[in-house]
Amino acid sequence: MSNAYKIIDHKYDVVVVGAGGAGLRATFGMAAKGLKTACITKVFPTRSHTVAAQGGMSAALGNMGPDDWRWHMYDTVKGSDWLGDQDAIEYMCREAVPAVVELEHYGVPFSRTEDGKIYQRPFGGMTTNYGEGIAQRTCAAADRTGHAILHTLYQQSLKHEAEFFIEYFALDLIMDEEGVCRGVMAWNLDDGTIHRFRAHAVMLATGGYGRTYFSCTGAHTQTGDGNAMVLRTGLPLQDMEFIQFHPTGIYGAGCLITEGVRGEGGYLTNSAGERFMERYAPSAKDLASRDVVSRSMTMEIREGRGVGPEKDHIYLHLEHLGPDVINERLPGIAESAKIFAGVDVARQPIPVIPTAHYNMGGIPTNYHGQVVTLKEGNPDSVVPGLMAIGEAACVSVHGANRLGSNSLLDLIVFGRAAANYCAETIKPGQAHKSLPAAGEESLSRLDKLRHKKGSIPTAQIRLNMQRTMQNNAAVFRTGDVLKEGIDRMADVWASCADVQVTDKSMIWNTDLAETLELENLLGCALVSIHSAYNRTESRGAHAREDYPERDDKNWMKHTLSWLNDKGEVSFEYRPVHLYTLTNEVEVVPPKKRVY
Ligand code: FUM
Repeated sequence: MSNAYKIIDHKYDVVVVGAGGAGLRATFGMAAKGLKTACITKVFPTRSHTVAAQGGMSAALGNMGPDDWRWHMYDTVKGSDWLGDQDAIEYMCREAVPAVVELEHYGVPFSRTEDGKIYQRPFGGMTTNYGEGIAQRTCAAADRTGHAILHTLYQQSLKHEAEFFIEYFALDLIMDEEGVCRGVMAWNLDDGTIHRFRAHAVMLATGGYGRTYFSCTGAHTQTGDGNAMVLRTGLPLQDMEFIQFHPTGIYGAGCLITEGVRGEGGYLTNSAGERFMERYAPSAKDLASRDVVSRSMTMEIREGRGVGPEKDHIYLHLEHLGPDVINERLPGIAESAKIFAGVDVARQPIPVIPTAHYNMGGIPTNYHGQVVTLKEGNPDSVVPGLMAIGEAACVSVHGANRLGSNSLLDLIVFGRAAANYCAETIKPGQAHKSLPAAGEESLSRLDKLRHKKGSIPTAQIRLNMQRTMQNNAAVFRTGDVLKEGIDRMADVWASCADVQVTDKSMIWNTDLAETLELENLLGCALVSIHSAYNRTESRGAHAREDYPERDDKNWMKHTLSWLNDKGEVSFEYRPVHLYTLTNEVEVVPPKKRVY
């Protein structure tokens, strides 16, 4: 080894990176099935961003009215603007029902109906009978559903004796010369030691990359670490141009106000006090899908009907809901509005604005969680030993736009599917291939970064990137604005050569950790903005004003994007899966998307 780091070796059957909803569901699922399982996480598990998920998890239980998983599938395909893979969507919507019942049995404290069933609320784009009515499909634990799920999954993981490596920063994948993933390198932030984890499957569950934006609803830990690790191995990411803006982030603070507020009867108004969503989505109104609501709000603001002194935001009303609904169903929202907007929701509207919230794109996988790539012309070839789940992955069940409450569902269904796949294919205790130099490249990268003596602080470069994404890859896009963003991003990338890492130690060196995170964010931001420039159509969350129509003839395909070490991005495309897994349901044929 050319550098001075002492390496501590570990051998596991499987290693999960990330301890959010997907990571923990997979961790405990594999541990419960007898696999020696490690979970590496840069934050304490119950601080993972899933803890902040509010409104709930969709599943066609039919507890509060008629429902059917096929209607859920239809809504999800339509929500995805026909970019979602229909085999994976079928799998997710069907498996939602047993997956949520399992969660209940594991101990998730869901809110209840009068007769003791799991409480379900309406959410945007969720309908009955293929678009005819409004479905109550989103299973909720008040407005703290992610918190309830995450704590239960952590308790289950401990019960099944999964081993946790907490406050370990995952650095790079270990790939062998045949392109098989053999493990992962990690840095223990607490004592500065370096760890080499060998495993028969590495499962990336590292979440999204929301922090590429200046204002986002996501935690500061959302830095696309897994996505960037994949890019560094020379593998592609998928559909990175599709970034969701949640309609109701608190103006000025970015914190999420759940769509569950509108599900419980809340609504949006402009400066004239008008419920403007009735004009944009006459049937679904405030419960249209998120891309539609965010665009409508942006148009109201652009046309001078925003509220506040700068006329640059919108009001969300829940004053009329009354204290019982607020206290029982939305207590967290009332607290957030008070703290972050100084608003008493019983008397005043909440100032809100569309805010970067979710990444539809990520590491391409199939519905087992296996990472797929484009090898020898096969668009579904897998990368042995490498898996991805949750927001880090792109299965693709959300296509060009995710429906609210399909995210917690995605975490649980595909965390469970990936765990089952590993339990079926990996024999506990199998020997590991000898790879004495594994991790050397990763440590050289770490060492180079740690000894940088440049002049630009990490925070300054990060801010330049975040402002560029905020201004140049927003709710509405044009070729010119995206091109300007690409040029700015090239400067940001170049400025990294002059980054200043002042702290050289290995123990709790947040300067170094943030610089590693910045590298990861930048990779994600670059492929996102280039992919957005390349896609000359409007679909779901990708709204090109210069190409306002969806173009199925040329663009019903997934973008695969590669990044080289000069910051250059290249592309290939793979077909959308327009087929189902079983004959229990038919393909949803493309049509115009109206709400
Ligand atoms: O609005 C919300 O509660 C967010 C849910 C989601 O993104 O799925």
